[in-house]
Amino acid sequence: MISRNNRIVLSCLCLILMTTFTCTTKTDSKTSKSDETLDQKVDSLLALMTIEEKVGQMNLYNGFWEVTGPMPEGGNAQTKYEHLRKGWVGGMLSVRGYENVKKMQQIAVEETRLGIPLIIGFDVIHGYKTLSPIPLAESASWDLEAIEQSARIAAVEASAAGINWTFAPMVDISRDPRWGRVMEGGGEDPYLGSKIAVARVKGFQGDNLSQPNTIAATAKHFAGYGFAEAGREYNTVDISMSKLHNVVLPPFKAAAESGARSFMNSFNDLNGDPVSGSKFLQRDILKGDWNFNGFVVSDWASINEIIYWGRAKNKKEAAEIAATAGSDMDMEGHVYIQELANLVKEGIVPEGIIDEAAGRILRVKFELGLFDDPYKYCNKEREKTVIGQQSHHEGVLDMAKKSIVLLKNESNLLPLKKEGQRIALIGPLANDKNSPLGSWRIASDDNTAVSIYEGLSAYEGNDLVYKKGVDLWVGATAFTKEIKINTTDRSGMTEAVNTARNADVVVMVLGEHGFQSGESRSRTNLDLPGLQQELLEAVFKVNKNIVLVLQNGRPLALEWAAENIPTIVEGWQLGTQTGNAIAQVLYGDYNPSGKLPMTFPRNVGQVPIYYNYKSTGRGTDRENNVFWSHYIDQKNSPLYAFGHGLSYTEFEYSDLTVEGSDFSIGDDIDIFVTVSNVGDYDGKEVVQLYIRDLVGSLVRPVKELKGFELIALKKGESQRVSFTLSKDELGYYNNSGEFIVEPGDFEVFIGGSSETKLKGNFTLN
Ligand code: NOJ
Repeated sequence: MISRNNRIVLSCLCLILMTTFTCTTKTDSKTSKSDETLDQKVDSLLALMTIEEKVGQMNLYNGFWEVTGPMPEGGNAQTKYEHLRKGWVGGMLSVRGYENVKKMQQIAVEETRLGIPLIIGFDVIHGYKTLSPIPLAESASWDLEAIEQSARIAAVEASAAGINWTFAPMVDISRDPRWGRVMEGGGEDPYLGSKIAVARVKGFQGDNLSQPNTIAATAKHFAGYGFAEAGREYNTVDISMSKLHNVVLPPFKAAAESGARSFMNSFNDLNGDPVSGSKFLQRDILKGDWNFNGFVVSDWASINEIIYWGRAKNKKEAAEIAATAGSDMDMEGHVYIQELANLVKEGIVPEGIIDEAAGRILRVKFELGLFDDPYKYCNKEREKTVIGQQSHHEGVLDMAKKSIVLLKNESNLLPLKKEGQRIALIGPLANDKNSPLGSWRIASDDNTAVSIYEGLSAYEGNDLVYKKGVDLWVGATAFTKEIKINTTDRSGMTEAVNTARNADVVVMVLGEHGFQSGESRSRTNLDLPGLQQELLEAVFKVNKNIVLVLQNGRPLALEWAAENIPTIVEGWQLGTQTGNAIAQVLYGDYNPSGKLPMTFPRNVGQVPIYYNYKSTGRGTDRENNVFWSHYIDQKNSPLYAFGHGLSYTEFEYSDLTVEGSDFSIGDDIDIFVTVSNVGDYDGKEVVQLYIRDLVGSLVRPVKELKGFELIALKKGESQRVSFTLSKDELGYYNNSGEFIVEPGDFEVFIGGSSETKLKGNFTLN
């Protein structure tokens, strides 16, 4: 082991080299002066490193011992510890908290030969300790500023706990609610998904990554994970090139363009290629076409999985495939650290590949300012005061209210009257303080959500009685293998029904437990699990004035409820402030404006169901002829469409005008519509614009979202809203991955959901 004095000598040498070394890699004519300096620093440092140290930068370990406790003895933890002291570890994940991170960083900085600081990663998915809604719920707000702000709060808290890199945003488009990870993403649409991806990256990274309260973002999972066959987690993915480029890749491209500093690959294969070993995705598209200069981290041991996919016969081959394909960092797979240096020495993997990968990682460390101050995220006082501060609770409450979607309000049960009402609050999730936190909340404490019962109790003018009715889940934990749903214990049912019988309004809170969605939580049923449907129908028999509040992490198929229950609120899992957000919406102190970011099916047999499906040769009912594209036992239409969401007020759309009529490719097309608030409340509306390209050289979708505006209108107010379509919105990718804009006729639709019929048209010459 090199002495401390030697290390200091080396550090000085390193500094000198940093300022004098001539740049050899990565700059092009467009590169700025500061990029050049950064490249020089990286190259100078690389020049000092042994092959093992460079490979070490590509090695990401999961937190491995009680960091502030005794050093590990024997086993895996000790190996990791030894590697850390040799400078063979580039980063750690899931180490958090001022003291723990500092301890780790001290070893890297003060005990290794070159003193290179660690990058500290964590799954900051929807908040750190103060939780905002699950990402799918936030996406329902279509409010990009609010989404950015929510990520900002998460970054501020996480960075105060020593973290400088998040494994978010997850930008996987998915059309399959059976897949449990839809809760983590932006929904089904590539246009909305791209805007949200940018907002989240901006929120995490801010304007200046070297600030101590910003963290590097990771766009994941690159790519195709959301198209796992049959919605079954970790399953194979086989999709066409045009679908890949038009549907899957846009949010990733947007994230890269907005400066996301890392990408994570995924557990799936894509058309036969396990993506951690996909040169096509990582080198050709990401680092080639998109000029991405951050780094790619594997998913948890996904490089090892190349073996299980049957694409590599052993770890050595897996390491070779992944590194050559452009996976820069191995997350907890131990494959790179075991194999790569030898692969280089044997001449199988060129050293340039290692230099490039390690260089990308070092570059981000420089950008984070870790070389200036490796302890900049370790500030005891900041950790104590910032995490959980009041303004964060206000921020996540704001986000939670904006995420709520009013699906149905037929007999105007909502907003609730504030006085003189007997309200029965029923359901297993009505007073749950844990489930509303949702999946992915590693750093928050259990049972810290404001429950809906607590939220409603703050309104004291009514008589509120709560009865659970039935249990949903017995013994829920994040890693429970067997999900134990209550299907037998009905002991609380009668009492709940009797309470409902005499109420003016029954608020029922039903749905999924927070751990029923998320990673490895695929479902084949999209119904209300357990005895909840039975409870709903039993209550309905005695009192029809039901406000159904859903709490779920994915679209559910609730045909019976949609037909029978007069009022339905999509309340997702809204995080720490769940109960307050729901109460303020139910009582009308906040007028809901959320719109669904994913289609709700009538039943699971319709899945995958999405609004931007392609035309077929037999798309419409042929005068009762059976031979058209449909089911004989169910409608084609969804239960609730993408973009659907009501308000307590009503909006009317009129005067859709396309300015001009004949356009040339490359022209901007301006489109206007008048939106009027004709109801009884002030409110907000997401004005959505869709296009249809009528004839193309490939079959085109029947509708595609190409613009939206969130506007606020006072009661009685109108606004002329304008959109501009450019070639970016009018073109698409063909099966060779080329972006083409084709002349022809287009239709344009504007309204408050994807089902809008208000239409205009134009021609592109
Ligand atoms: C596996 C998940 O797929 C990924 O999203 C997550 O970031 C890593 N585990 C690290 O926890």
